[in-house]
Amino acid sequence: MRVVVGITGASGAVYACALLGALHNLNVELEIAVSEMGRRVLSYECSAGLDDLAQWGEVHDNSDLFSVLASGSAKFDAMVIVPCSANTLSALANGLGGSLILRAASVALKERRNLIVVMRETPLNLIIVENMAKLIKAGALILPASPGFYTRPAAVWQLVGGVVGRIIDNLGIEHALGGRWAGGEYDES
Ligand SMILES: Cc1cc2nc3c(=O)[nH]c(=O)nc-3n(C[C@H](O)[C@H](O)[C@H](O)COP(=O)(O)O)c2cc1C
Repeated sequence: MRVVVGITGASGAVYACALLGALHNLNVELEIAVSEMGRRVLSYECSAGLDDLAQWGEVHDNSDLFSVLASGSAKFDAMVIVPCSANTLSALANGLGGSLILRAASVALKERRNLIVVMRETPLNLIIVENMAKLIKAGALILPASPGFYTRPAAVWQLVGGVVGRIIDNLGIEHALGGRWAGGEYDES
């Protein structure tokens, strides 16, 4: 399986790192693009840079619209934007394709491929809600970076793992991250 991961300048760069590490361990081929604000927030929140991301996949220049990922003929199976800023959500919902992340996401929608948008913003204004609705109607899955607490997490990595587990579920890949609710209780296995 080949998955494009777009990283934008919303808070929550740790979700992107955790997802990339988990998918890499699951032998998923990864293509990565990072917006300029995504790069800066990644550096600020995780003390990490594009070189660190390269251990998990190929890092593409987000301004390179000559990239292989910019074409509908590029054979990737799914795309995840994580975290997704309200800015990128708005641009995508309104048909803009002026960066590699936006163009690859538009390609995913037009080619009817799985597009998972991991929004991170709170509170939400009506413009954001309407843009999310537009993307849902266009075929995207909006998956808010909103961790569950029924897992009784004792550490941040468990909260992160819970969200990453839901992303991987929606890519249709079997995994053992984050555990599952087993009816009346949480199954850690
Ligand atoms: C530390 C930091 C945290 C931010 N967190 C968010 C956020 O959670 N959600 C959001 O929509 N924007 C957030 N922003 C603002 C975006 O970075 C900004 O809107 C930017 O234009 C996004 O650009 P991009 O979509 O090209 O990555 C944050 C900015 C900074 C500096």
